[in-house]
Amino acid sequence: MKRLVIDTDTGVDDAQALLMAFAHPDTRVEAILSVAGNVGVDKTTPNILKVLDVVGRDVPVYRGCDRPIVFTPESGEDAHGNDGLGGADLPASSRTVEREHAVNALIRLANEHPGELTLVALGPLTNVALATRLDPDLPQKIKALFIMGGAVHSMGNTQNMSAEFNIYYDADAAHIVFSEWPMLTMSDWEITMRQGLTGEQAEALRSAPTPRGAFFRKITDYTINRFGLEPFLLPDPLAMAAALDPECVARAEKRYVEIELTGQRTRGQTTVDWRGWSGKTPNANIVLEYDMDRVFALLRAAVS
Ligand code: BDR
Ligand code: CA
Repeated sequence: MKRLVIDTDTGVDDAQALLMAFAHPDTRVEAILSVAGNVGVDKTTPNILKVLDVVGRDVPVYRGCDRPIVFTPESGEDAHGNDGLGGADLPASSRTVEREHAVNALIRLANEHPGELTLVALGPLTNVALATRLDPDLPQKIKALFIMGGAVHSMGNTQNMSAEFNIYYDADAAHIVFSEWPMLTMSDWEITMRQGLTGEQAEALRSAPTPRGAFFRKITDYTINRFGLEPFLLPDPLAMAAALDPECVARAEKRYVEIELTGQRTRGQTTVDWRGWSGKTPNANIVLEYDMDRVFALLRAAVS
């Protein structure tokens, strides 16, 4: 049984990834941590509760950091609608959030279950970085870390063209994580662009005759109106797929990755030692190809 802690700035694709985790048979979601990113933490936290309503599961939710560690750049509010869930206007949940801060909860859980928890970070790495600073042995206590983040050939999606949103939004946090964690699995923006779904596949998910299918349709209307149906991009669902089912990863390479912090145009860029000339030990397992049949199977299960 895989035991997950999910850290998320719950926007549209984060919510899809959460549905996938809850549908996976060999996985137990132990805790969900919120963080600011796509929208503020005052929205990402209740968005998690709304997803729990949809799946009918009780999982402790911990509110995390409300801003990056040092510097807050422009937000991605536009891409996910005003509420972060595509303006789907979902009813507020009556569920409650735990009192403990997400950073403290992550440290506590890792210490209570050393070597047992897999951490999946779907947003900026603020919580993970602060937890790492407070407990420098955290990387040794977490079984594996999967992230959605980066643009490994510098084709990003932010105003710093070479930087991807999650890394760009809190580049300092990303720097801490990439410096302190010996290895993480990285699903970046470029593979997201290469391996989207067809319109037909997306519509198959959107028309699933279930409450989860209806939720999926509601939250994706906005993005489809804004960006079109095809390719139907899966940033966080791809990262989640790698965590849930290693067989989803068809090809990956271990490389040394460093975060650019000072470039006026490039802060947040993930610089990759593709040739191995730095002599530095690889710290990231970069996913270069997914088995999209397997990923699609996880998505189908998520809306069934
Ligand atoms: C990442 O940024 C957010 O907009 C998405 O939720 C995803 O985690 C893509 O760059
Ligand atoms: Ca996200």
